[in-house]
Amino acid sequence: MTADQLKEKAALRALELVRDGMRLGLGTGSTAAHFVKGLGARVAEGLNVLCVPTSEETRELAESLGIPLSTLDEIPQLDLTVDGADELDDQLRLIKGGGGALLIEKIVATASKSMVVIADDTKEVEQLGAFPLPVEVVPVGLRATQALIQGMASEAGCEGEIKLRIGKGGEPFYTDQNNLILDCHFGSIPEPEVLHFAIKRLPGVVEVGLFLGIADAAIVAGQEGLKVLR
Ligand code: 5RP
Repeated sequence: MTADQLKEKAALRALELVRDGMRLGLGTGSTAAHFVKGLGARVAEGLNVLCVPTSEETRELAESLGIPLSTLDEIPQLDLTVDGADELDDQLRLIKGGGGALLIEKIVATASKSMVVIADDTKEVEQLGAFPLPVEVVPVGLRATQALIQGMASEAGCEGEIKLRIGKGGEPFYTDQNNLILDCHFGSIPEPEVLHFAIKRLPGVVEVGLFLGIADAAIVAGQEGLKVLR
């Protein structure tokens, strides 16, 4: 099976958790897109759900499939959010934001009674940090914020290049909220909680792509089959 087929397999297993009448958070990325497509098919068969998307990309996909959509302002508490991840460890700590949607992904997941991660097994790691950690920052004071992140990260035991994310057109990548992303190439993050606390308190930082204590379970698909981590 290809990585994409494994992503689809995990997504279809997560679909089995959806019940009629649920309010759902819809993640962003290629794995989450498989979930949204499967959900669209169930909605076409008569399933009744109300969903909050975590990005414009997901909103457009869900809308094209006829999935009923709302906002967190209208429904502040959700039953279940299903989303992908860039990395997950055995404590269900995540790196997210490879697609640039970390801020709304974290808000939506935190507003949900339960968050389930769907992933192929290449996302499972012993220690977080090989995937560059995305940090969303306001454009004003970018260089100053970058330098402060570097200093705080170093104190938290993380060294490495911090790069401004560039979009497809060669211009800086802007999030749906018109912020920028700094990708932190630390290689490893020995103490995710310490790093998260150190970076999150900087005024120019909007959100950090570390999801700690948020995910309740992960459905991971590998060549040998599916496993559920809790
Ligand atoms: C987007 C995300 C995605 O969930 C993450 O990047 C995984 O993406 P994919 O499912 O395409 O591998 O955090 O901000």
